[in-house]
Amino acid sequence: MIPLVPGLALITGASSGIGEALARALPPDRPLLLTGRDPARLEALRAELATGSRPVEIVVADLAAPAGPQAVIEALGERPLALLVNNAGLGAWGPFLASDPAREAEMVAVNCLAPVVLTRALLPRLIESAGQGKGRSGLILVASTAAFQPLPNFATYAATKAFDRFLGEALSQELAGQPVAVLTLCPGATRTRFFERARLPGLRSHVMDADRVARLALGALGRRTLLVPGLLNRLASQLVGLVPRPLARPAIRLVMRQMLKKETP
Ligand SMILES: NC(=O)c1ccc[n+]([C@@H]2O[C@H](COP(=O)([O-])OP(=O)(O)OC[C@H]3O[C@@H](n4cnc5c(N)ncnc54)[C@H](OP(=O)(O)O)[C@@H]3O)[C@@H](O)[C@H]2O)c1
Repeated sequence: MIPLVPGLALITGASSGIGEALARALPPDRPLLLTGRDPARLEALRAELATGSRPVEIVVADLAAPAGPQAVIEALGERPLALLVNNAGLGAWGPFLASDPAREAEMVAVNCLAPVVLTRALLPRLIESAGQGKGRSGLILVASTAAFQPLPNFATYAATKAFDRFLGEALSQELAGQPVAVLTLCPGATRTRFFERARLPGLRSHVMDADRVARLALGALGRRTLLVPGLLNRLASQLVGLVPRPLARPAIRLVMRQMLKKETP
């Protein structure tokens, strides 16, 4: 990991999975501001990571509600910010017509709107903190390999992750002259609570550990702008871009239909 300027590392979705792993993987002297909805899990992580004089704060906030991102911004106050990780996210597997409309809206709010609101509010702070520390700060957006193609039966999720990927890749170019390293992280299947919560069937093979994904992400920050962890994930995400869309779309539909059949025999 490149050395970051002094300041807090703010991680959304730190109460579980990849966000929790990122919090653990940061150097032990980095002050942390951890957010999520689950106070017990956040408090357990705070107790684990707040060793010595390291400050670790938690903010319980629902990022699906407009007040959520605002509460996180207010918790940071005027303090220097060295790293912002927009990681909180959720999925919902199944046919769009049968989906829960509230869940679809929640997905867009947490996966897309919250990262925009947080990044727009806190990017000036990242730049300012980097200037004061005479070094670099970091911005990570967690997208997914789902961002590389439309996914029938996982339509809204893939669309939200394409949004995250485009946002991150565009910002990495816009901010090329600024002292902020931008990384768009596109994990493939990762062992977290995501699958169970999204009610996703199958995909038991080629699943990566969240700790490994977190270590690779922090190692890539400042060295590259986009990371797809894992060779197979990288190959698949590049290959799908090479196949003409009119051929790729029905092929993806068949794969996703098979997955749906597995779930409902
Ligand atoms: N696991 C995978 O296979 C995979 C693959 C590619 C990309 N990703 C992406 O990785 C990111 C992290 O997911 P994960 O795999 O670590 O899943 P996870 O274990 O389910 O963790 C999701 C995190 O997001 C938080 N979150 C969800 N809804 C929220 C809301 N309304 N307000 C605030 N926080 C909310 C959760 O907080 P609470 O638990 O406190 O509710 C939790 O901390 C997501 O953006 C996901 O899209 C995951």
